[in-house]
Amino acid sequence: MDQKTINVAMIGQGFMGKSHSNAWSQVNKFFNPPITPVMHTVYGMEAEHPEVFAKKWGWANASTNWEETVKSPEIGLVDIVTPNFMHAPPAKAAILAGKKCVTCEKPIAGSLDDARAMAEASEKYNVPSFVWFVYRRCPAVAYAHQMVKAGMLGDILHIRATYLQDWADENVPMTWRFKKETAGSGAHGDLNAHITDMTRFVAGVEIEEICGCISKTFVPKRKKLTGLINQTNIIGGAQAGGDEYDDVTVDDAVLYLAKFNNGAVGSFEAARQATGNKNANYFEINGTKGALKFAFERMNELQFYDATRPSGIQGWTTILCTHGADHPYVANWWPDGHLIGYEHTFVNMAYDVLKVLNGEEPTIPLATFRDAYQTQRILEAALICAEEKRFVKLDEVK
Ligand SMILES: NC(=O)c1ccc[n+]([C@@H]2O[C@H](COP(=O)([O-])OP(=O)(O)OC[C@H]3O[C@@H](n4cnc5c(N)ncnc54)[C@H](O)[C@@H]3O)[C@@H](O)[C@H]2O)c1
Repeated sequence: MDQKTINVAMIGQGFMGKSHSNAWSQVNKFFNPPITPVMHTVYGMEAEHPEVFAKKWGWANASTNWEETVKSPEIGLVDIVTPNFMHAPPAKAAILAGKKCVTCEKPIAGSLDDARAMAEASEKYNVPSFVWFVYRRCPAVAYAHQMVKAGMLGDILHIRATYLQDWADENVPMTWRFKKETAGSGAHGDLNAHITDMTRFVAGVEIEEICGCISKTFVPKRKKLTGLINQTNIIGGAQAGGDEYDDVTVDDAVLYLAKFNNGAVGSFEAARQATGNKNANYFEINGTKGALKFAFERMNELQFYDATRPSGIQGWTTILCTHGADHPYVANWWPDGHLIGYEHTFVNMAYDVLKVLNGEEPTIPLATFRDAYQTQRILEAALICAEEKRFVKLDEVK
């Protein structure tokens, strides 16, 4: 029997290079996607020895020339996992080369101009293009989206989200993540991007105005890096050598307040030096009929408060979102109660991309380039608010 396939090229091979390689190699085992991804080529920088990565992670070919790789007529899907400033060039090149699909890590780009150009190009050339906002694809988050859509929270009044980490103390050397020209912003584009997307997705309401924002850099200079290439190595504990310092040009923390188009109010906080928090990605949504809480470090669980129950028995319920008959994606993983982790969210996303390429509905909506551009507008509005110390309407930010 003929099996439809698509050749994938992945651009970049750091932290996300591993998680995406795992996703492309697992998706056909746990799911039955209508199109099978073939791990054709991985691009890495010369110093990274992409041939070693290719062998270890199952790519047939290795390349040190991303332009050639993206243009190759053999490639159908281009998957971009490079630093933020390096999202737009391969994405635009892939779209212009007429690829069947482009997928790109978040935030969609390092600048709003790049984000807009990517969204416009994908629409102009009709190339399905998606951003890996994978936290949508935790079964608990996907289920929360479905619960809100089914009206179980009533009218949404409050959205409260925090994404706190603590890896970036002054001992961490300079990398692309601390420079505006390579990252665009710091914790903001890295972490607020996720919680902004995730809460837009779950609550189904849109931010109209940013009503306050603080952007703070705690560590203004960092030791220059010697001999290290990617963020993964730094998180792995490696240190910079030498005594030269370089200026940090992005935030370490950004907090913003927002008004939504349905009258709800919200607060968002992203931080990389929030001691004690490792990957504390959290939201709480309160509606007139109920409320939800999600905390990624307990990602299999969703907290639900049903305010329609008799008052004497109201209280928070912990839902273990591992029931295949009810909770998205989990039927393809393990029996009830056998927990899943971070990497599964990427496999879930790969599955939905392959479904959409076959003209099918995804399990839950994917973030298109247009959708991710909308998130980028919100992030930009927050930075304008912090810079100019005034309320910023989203309409101002194009
Ligand atoms: N979805 C998530 O949960 C999540 C988590 C971490 C990172 N990200 C995003 O993934 C992207 C990559 O992050 P990462 O943590 O994998 O970074 P990383 O530093 O670990 O790896 C980046 C890789 O990109 C390539 N690269 C680096 N500099 C380059 C350059 N100048 N030109 C071309 N290629 C270059 C290299 O192959 C490098 O290994 C970023 O956009 C980041 O925001 C997403």
